[in-house]
Amino acid sequence: MPDDPARDPLTGARILLGVTGSVAAYKTPDLVRRLRGAGAEVRVVLSRGGCEFVTPLALQSVSGEPVRTELLDPTEESAMDHIALARWADRLLVAPASADSLARLSQGRADDLLGAVYLATDAPVSVAPGMNHRMWAHPATRRNADQLADDGVDRIGPAAGDQACGEEGEGRMAEPEVIVEHLRRHLAPKPLAGRRVLVTAGPTREPVDPVRFLSNRSTGKMGYAVAAAAAELGGEVTLVTGPTHLRDPEEITVVPVETAEAMAATVRDRLSEADLFAAVAAVSDHRPEERLASKRKGKEAFELALTPTPDILAEAAGRNDRPLILGFAAETESALASGRDKRRAKGGDYLAVNDISRPDAGFGTETNRLTLIGPEGEQALPFGSKREVARALLKRLATELAGRA
Ligand code: C5P
Repeated sequence: MPDDPARDPLTGARILLGVTGSVAAYKTPDLVRRLRGAGAEVRVVLSRGGCEFVTPLALQSVSGEPVRTELLDPTEESAMDHIALARWADRLLVAPASADSLARLSQGRADDLLGAVYLATDAPVSVAPGMNHRMWAHPATRRNADQLADDGVDRIGPAAGDQACGEEGEGRMAEPEVIVEHLRRHLAPKPLAGRRVLVTAGPTREPVDPVRFLSNRSTGKMGYAVAAAAAELGGEVTLVTGPTHLRDPEEITVVPVETAEAMAATVRDRLSEADLFAAVAAVSDHRPEERLASKRKGKEAFELALTPTPDILAEAAGRNDRPLILGFAAETESALASGRDKRRAKGGDYLAVNDISRPDAGFGTETNRLTLIGPEGEQALPFGSKREVARALLKRLATELAGRA
């Protein structure tokens, strides 16, 4: 289905992965699996240094393709020569790119297979450097990295953190999921380019005392998927999130909050700058009326007085300077009818309803099933991963925004 709006932009992409001699090469079987999981075809070129850290057999097993290591290997060259390999690729990704490989590529050396393919390909090239932080900081390496940037090579990372050598600093290869997300964004259409998107996600926590709180089962997955999909489609995204266990998405401004009041205040401040507000958070409707200053003790029964929290969506919908607004509703009974009522009661333009009594939709699941209720009627979105559903949803809203502009 070529124009399926939920489709991952990596579907069918031909990625030629160059793996070079850095300890981060041990992460490349995972990288290959993630790329293939996203629908890409992957072929691997393994440098001699790379072979010291990961075996050709491991990469062949996960890529489902023979792995090439040598430039002048007669059997390999007869199957697919280095020029054919260079032509095959939609993108060349060098990950990890060792200090030596950056030096070689920046000089245009062709005395190994990766160097020859690099010179012979028309495909865009990305490098994900991975090395000791002092090697990365060395002026020679910086010069080579700058030269590659001047030559039009895209760079992913490196990240800062602890290193395999026991030291700490900038030089770690970007994590496989970060690399995959980076490539996905390169390949995606950009209907939200120039649009600012504000997203709320996750649960809120309403404190009872310093150790206890009221909360809910939201994991933040759907809100994070909406934020990531909005960034993939070119939006400039701010994610206001309650506590979750999810990794901060790349290149998204993340504002962590705890309570409904704090989430409301952040949205209030930022709403007028946004073109689209997606209220995905499962906000507590009530909070304890008072927050005890010290931990409550004793075993006797007690009553907890609750007071309503601000309704962030309804408040936003009532503002004159409001952007396009998408709400979410997680319902357990008569999902659609409740969704219609909720949209009417709260205002806003669209409401995405999911029936969380189903095992494949709702809190903590990887997949979702949504019906979008909007001014022009109701539309069931195709079932899929939360990311796929979010992508289809945002493409729909991007069309609506384009119509307004
Ligand atoms: O919890 P409820 O079903 O009312 O949530 C529906 C929509 O309203 C969701 O988009 C949610 O993010 C939003 N909401 C909100 N502030 C609240 C309660 C819900 O923005 N206090």
